[in-house]
Amino acid sequence: MRLFIFALCAIFARTVTAAAKDTGYAFPENFKFGVATASYQIEGAWNEHGKGPNVWDTLTHRIPPFTDDASTGDIACDAYHKTVQDVQILKSMGVNFYRFSLSWSRLLPRGFSNYVNPEGVQYYNDLINELLANDITPIVTIFHWDTPQNLEELGGWPNPKMADFFVDYARVVFDAFGDRVKEWLTFNEPNQICQQGYATGGMAPAHNTKEMGGYWCTHTVLIAHGRAYRMYQEEFKSKQGGRVGITIDNQWNEPLTNSTEDKEAAERANIMNFGWYANAIFSKNGDYPSILRERVDQFSEEEGFTRSRLPYFTQEEIEMIRGSHDFFGLNHYTSRVVTNDDGDQGRPSHEHDVGTRGEIDPKWEPSAADWLYVVPWGLRKTLEWIKENYDNPEVIITENGYADKHDAPLRDCERVKYYNLYLEEVLKAIHESNCNVTAYTAWSFMDNFEWQRGYTQRYGLYHVDFEDPERPRTPKMSAHVFANIIKTKRIDWDFTPKEFEKCEWVQIEVKSEL
Ligand code: NOJ
Repeated sequence: MRLFIFALCAIFARTVTAAAKDTGYAFPENFKFGVATASYQIEGAWNEHGKGPNVWDTLTHRIPPFTDDASTGDIACDAYHKTVQDVQILKSMGVNFYRFSLSWSRLLPRGFSNYVNPEGVQYYNDLINELLANDITPIVTIFHWDTPQNLEELGGWPNPKMADFFVDYARVVFDAFGDRVKEWLTFNEPNQICQQGYATGGMAPAHNTKEMGGYWCTHTVLIAHGRAYRMYQEEFKSKQGGRVGITIDNQWNEPLTNSTEDKEAAERANIMNFGWYANAIFSKNGDYPSILRERVDQFSEEEGFTRSRLPYFTQEEIEMIRGSHDFFGLNHYTSRVVTNDDGDQGRPSHEHDVGTRGEIDPKWEPSAADWLYVVPWGLRKTLEWIKENYDNPEVIITENGYADKHDAPLRDCERVKYYNLYLEEVLKAIHESNCNVTAYTAWSFMDNFEWQRGYTQRYGLYHVDFEDPERPRTPKMSAHVFANIIKTKRIDWDFTPKEFEKCEWVQIEVKSEL
């Protein structure tokens, strides 16, 4: 009898949950799904076969340790030695593409293009060939945060010369791999490279030059992106026919209340954090957003600087950067509710320049990452914002994912729920708001080195055992669910692979309905 009631509840549970969440929409026939990783986070082999050191090698070898668990990416997932095995796993998931990044100092050990490391080229050739042989499209990020140490010694991204070095490096990789790679991303999340790398110190090279570093780094990165894009058009496009974009991250900013002040604050936060990177490339007029220009110019003057902390583009640079995209790469994870804040905020700083405060809505479910709360509608609002502000460009969602703890179970119900909920919002953005989203990428293919958090947080669809020298990969429930979404082009709220039990949240929802 008890079994019968349980079964009845379970059926009811699925119905109620499905009714509450399922939009009934399907992904378009040509919609593509993939998973992502980044070189330093998975490769390991930090000093093998001629690879030069990068800023993350330096920072993680530093004493006292930089990471929460004193870990490094020296071995990470050991992906450098597991190309064939990993591609077979990708194939079994049925992904259409695999997004990975190139390690600059594996290819150019000292960062300069005068010497190209043949073993580095060989490693990526093998990976690309293996992917293609298994019908998986490579999407390649040229730079995902691992600046060659040698170039950092010269000042890193705030040094305008970095644009030259980046373009030289991009030419090497287009030349070496562009006959087979047709989808390129120049940079991953320039906001994190610049703010965390040079303004707040949360990421390598961990400089705290808060009032200047972020702005100068951003300036170089935008010029480097534009120049690499133009170089591809001039030197490679006609023979290779590929596409080049950039991945920009955003945390959606929603007004805390309906007040005009909060609405203005939230919009200002979106423009001054996201538009800071996107405007020069995607807006009709190019250049930095005018509100960013006005506020930083004004505050710089008040603070007694001789010139604005926000550098100026030349007219020629504005035109070169404007329109330097074949699609919009978007990384999105979470949101904030935002209000105006006229306080000091560590003035002079970017935070003070923006003049807002972001908060967590207590109703939002947390993850293991202190910044990542589950706010699915923020993704849809971001997609709508891009559509409105940048003339509905093609958007490839290049990252979206959920963090759980080091000891989280393979039955990762919360991650499944996160993906289902966020993907429902992508469906609504496509079917109800006509946003031009063509692809979705889960972060991450497998658990990996999560920067300052080391291995204390997991983002993978595949579990990696970092205690085992073989670094075995095991599918979590989310891997099965994601594979099913790819296969059916639908989100099936009832889908649970047979080897896993039902998720708690299915029952919790029923309880609240009864
Ligand atoms: C975005 C970054 O691109 C990736 O490297 C990182 O692991 C995830 N966010 C999660 O924090």
